[in-house]
Amino acid sequence: MSSILGTTLFMLLSVSVLSKVANNVTGDSVRGKVIYAQRCTSCHSIEFNGAGPLHRNLLGRKAGAVADYSYSPALKSSKIIWSNKTIDKWLLSPNKFIPGQKMWVSVPDAKDRQDIIAYLKTEGDKSK
Ligand code: HEC
Repeated sequence: MSSILGTTLFMLLSVSVLSKVANNVTGDSVRGKVIYAQRCTSCHSIEFNGAGPLHRNLLGRKAGAVADYSYSPALKSSKIIWSNKTIDKWLLSPNKFIPGQKMWVSVPDAKDRQDIIAYLKTEGDKSK
Protein backbone atom coordinates (compact mmCIF):
# COMPACT_ATOMS: atom_id res chain seq x y z
CA MET A 1 0.00 0.00 0.00
CA SER A 2 2.66 2.50 1.02
CA SER A 3 4.74 1.60 -2.01
CA ILE A 4 1.76 2.25 -4.28
CA LEU A 5 1.30 5.60 -2.58
CA GLY A 6 5.01 6.29 -2.99
CA THR A 7 4.92 5.46 -6.67
CA THR A 8 1.87 7.62 -7.20
CA LEU A 9 3.49 10.55 -5.43
CA PHE A 10 6.66 10.06 -7.42
CA MET A 11 4.68 10.07 -10.69
CA LEU A 12 2.77 13.19 -9.71
CA LEU A 13 6.00 14.96 -8.84
CA SER A 14 7.63 13.91 -12.10
CA VAL A 15 4.69 15.21 -14.08
CA SER A 16 4.79 18.60 -12.39
CA VAL A 17 8.57 18.86 -12.81
CA LEU A 18 8.31 17.86 -16.45
CA SER A 19 5.60 20.37 -17.22
CA LYS A 20 7.67 23.11 -15.57
CA VAL A 21 10.62 22.18 -17.74
CA ALA A 22 8.39 22.13 -20.83
CA ASN A 23 7.25 25.65 -20.12
CA ASN A 24 10.77 26.96 -19.92
CA VAL A 25 12.46 25.37 -22.88
CA THR A 26 11.67 26.02 -26.50
CA GLY A 27 9.77 23.35 -28.37
CA ASP A 28 11.04 20.11 -29.79
CA SER A 29 11.06 20.49 -33.57
CA VAL A 30 11.38 16.76 -34.21
CA ARG A 31 8.22 16.04 -32.25
CA GLY A 32 6.66 19.13 -33.84
CA LYS A 33 7.25 17.72 -37.30
CA VAL A 34 5.31 14.58 -36.40
CA ILE A 35 2.40 16.57 -34.95
CA TYR A 36 2.41 18.86 -37.99
CA ALA A 37 2.19 15.83 -40.27
CA GLN A 38 -0.71 14.42 -38.25
CA ARG A 39 -2.74 17.57 -37.63
CA CYS A 40 -1.85 20.24 -40.17
CA THR A 41 -0.92 18.67 -43.51
CA SER A 42 -4.48 17.81 -44.48
CA CYS A 43 -4.81 21.54 -45.18
CA HIS A 44 -1.27 23.01 -45.12
CA SER A 45 2.21 22.35 -46.40
CA ILE A 46 5.46 24.24 -46.06
CA GLU A 47 5.74 24.71 -49.82
CA PHE A 48 2.26 24.86 -51.34
CA ASN A 49 -1.12 26.40 -50.73
CA GLY A 50 -3.87 23.86 -50.06
CA ALA A 51 -7.08 24.38 -48.13
CA GLY A 52 -4.84 26.60 -45.97
CA PRO A 53 -1.89 28.84 -46.95
CA LEU A 54 1.70 27.57 -47.25
CA HIS A 55 3.91 27.92 -44.17
CA ARG A 56 7.34 28.74 -45.64
CA ASN A 57 8.95 31.55 -43.56
CA LEU A 58 5.92 31.80 -41.31
CA LEU A 59 7.79 33.35 -38.38
CA GLY A 60 8.18 37.06 -38.96
CA ARG A 61 5.60 37.01 -41.76
CA LYS A 62 2.54 39.24 -41.75
CA ALA A 63 -0.72 37.31 -41.33
CA GLY A 64 -2.59 36.87 -44.58
CA ALA A 65 0.44 37.63 -46.75
CA VAL A 66 0.76 34.61 -49.06
CA ALA A 67 0.09 35.61 -52.66
CA ASP A 68 -2.44 33.44 -54.49
CA TYR A 69 -4.13 32.31 -51.29
CA SER A 70 -7.66 33.45 -50.67
CA TYR A 71 -7.77 34.47 -46.99
CA SER A 72 -10.82 35.44 -44.99
CA PRO A 73 -11.18 39.24 -44.77
CA ALA A 74 -10.76 38.88 -40.97
CA LEU A 75 -7.32 37.30 -41.19
CA LYS A 76 -6.17 39.45 -44.09
CA SER A 77 -6.96 42.70 -42.28
CA SER A 78 -5.70 41.53 -38.87
CA LYS A 79 -2.25 43.25 -39.01
CA ILE A 80 -0.75 40.42 -36.95
CA ILE A 81 2.89 39.41 -37.36
CA TRP A 82 3.46 35.68 -36.79
CA SER A 83 5.76 35.10 -33.83
CA ASN A 84 6.09 32.52 -31.09
CA LYS A 85 3.44 34.35 -29.12
CA THR A 86 0.93 35.07 -31.89
CA ILE A 87 1.11 31.56 -33.38
CA ASP A 88 0.61 30.14 -29.89
CA LYS A 89 -2.53 32.23 -29.38
CA TRP A 90 -3.78 31.40 -32.85
CA LEU A 91 -3.39 27.65 -32.41
CA LEU A 92 -5.00 27.73 -28.96
CA SER A 93 -8.14 29.25 -30.45
CA PRO A 94 -8.07 30.76 -33.94
CA ASN A 95 -11.53 32.19 -33.68
CA LYS A 96 -10.93 33.86 -30.33
CA PHE A 97 -7.69 35.37 -31.59
CA ILE A 98 -9.10 36.55 -34.94
CA PRO A 99 -12.90 36.43 -34.89
CA GLY A 100 -14.34 35.66 -38.32
CA GLN A 101 -11.31 33.71 -39.58
CA LYS A 102 -11.88 30.39 -41.37
CA MET A 103 -9.54 27.80 -39.81
CA TRP A 104 -11.60 25.47 -37.65
CA VAL A 105 -8.80 23.54 -36.01
CA SER A 106 -7.14 24.23 -32.67
CA VAL A 107 -4.29 22.74 -30.62
CA PRO A 108 -5.33 22.72 -26.94
CA ASP A 109 -2.05 21.32 -25.57
CA ALA A 110 0.64 23.96 -24.85
CA LYS A 111 3.54 21.58 -25.42
CA ASP A 112 2.11 20.48 -28.76
CA ARG A 113 1.84 24.13 -29.81
CA GLN A 114 5.44 24.88 -28.79
CA ASP A 115 6.73 21.84 -30.66
CA ILE A 116 4.81 22.78 -33.81
CA ILE A 117 6.20 26.33 -33.61
CA ALA A 118 9.75 24.97 -33.17
CA TYR A 119 9.23 22.88 -36.30
CA LEU A 120 7.89 25.84 -38.29
CA LYS A 121 10.93 27.88 -37.18
CA THR A 122 13.33 25.18 -38.36
CA GLU A 123 11.59 25.00 -41.72
CA GLY A 124 11.62 28.76 -42.10
CA ASP A 125 15.37 28.92 -41.54
CA LYS A 126 16.12 26.33 -44.20
CA SER A 127 14.52 28.26 -47.01
CA LYS A 128 15.83 31.71 -47.86
C1 HEC B 1 -9.13 21.84 -41.91
C2 HEC B 1 -8.07 22.59 -42.53
C3 HEC B 1 -6.95 23.13 -41.68
C4 HEC B 1 -6.15 22.44 -40.78
C5 HEC B 1 -6.19 20.96 -40.44
C6 HEC B 1 -5.19 23.41 -40.29
N1 HEC B 1 -5.41 24.64 -40.83
FE1 HEC B 1 -4.30 26.33 -40.55
N2 HEC B 1 -5.48 27.35 -41.84
C7 HEC B 1 -6.59 26.82 -42.49
C8 HEC B 1 -7.24 27.87 -43.24
C9 HEC B 1 -8.50 27.71 -44.09
C10 HEC B 1 -6.51 29.05 -43.01
C11 HEC B 1 -6.82 30.47 -43.51
C12 HEC B 1 -7.69 31.14 -42.47
C13 HEC B 1 -8.30 32.46 -42.93
O1 HEC B 1 -8.02 32.93 -44.05
O2 HEC B 1 -9.08 33.00 -42.14
C14 HEC B 1 -5.40 28.68 -42.13
C15 HEC B 1 -4.43 29.58 -41.67
C16 HEC B 1 -3.37 29.24 -40.87
C17 HEC B 1 -2.33 30.15 -40.45
C18 HEC B 1 -2.18 31.62 -40.87
C19 HEC B 1 -1.21 31.68 -42.05
C20 HEC B 1 -1.02 33.01 -42.71
O3 HEC B 1 -0.45 33.00 -43.83
O4 HEC B 1 -1.38 34.06 -42.17
C21 HEC B 1 -1.49 29.44 -39.65
C22 HEC B 1 -0.24 29.95 -38.97
C23 HEC B 1 -2.00 28.08 -39.57
N3 HEC B 1 -3.13 28.00 -40.32
C24 HEC B 1 -1.40 27.07 -38.86
C25 HEC B 1 -1.91 25.76 -38.78
C26 HEC B 1 -1.27 24.70 -38.04
C27 HEC B 1 0.05 24.82 -37.30
C28 HEC B 1 -2.07 23.60 -38.16
C29 HEC B 1 -1.90 22.24 -37.51
C30 HEC B 1 -1.99 22.20 -36.08
C31 HEC B 1 -3.20 23.97 -38.99
N4 HEC B 1 -3.06 25.30 -39.34
C32 HEC B 1 -4.22 23.11 -39.35
C33 HEC B 1 -7.00 25.51 -42.48
C34 HEC B 1 -6.48 24.51 -41.69
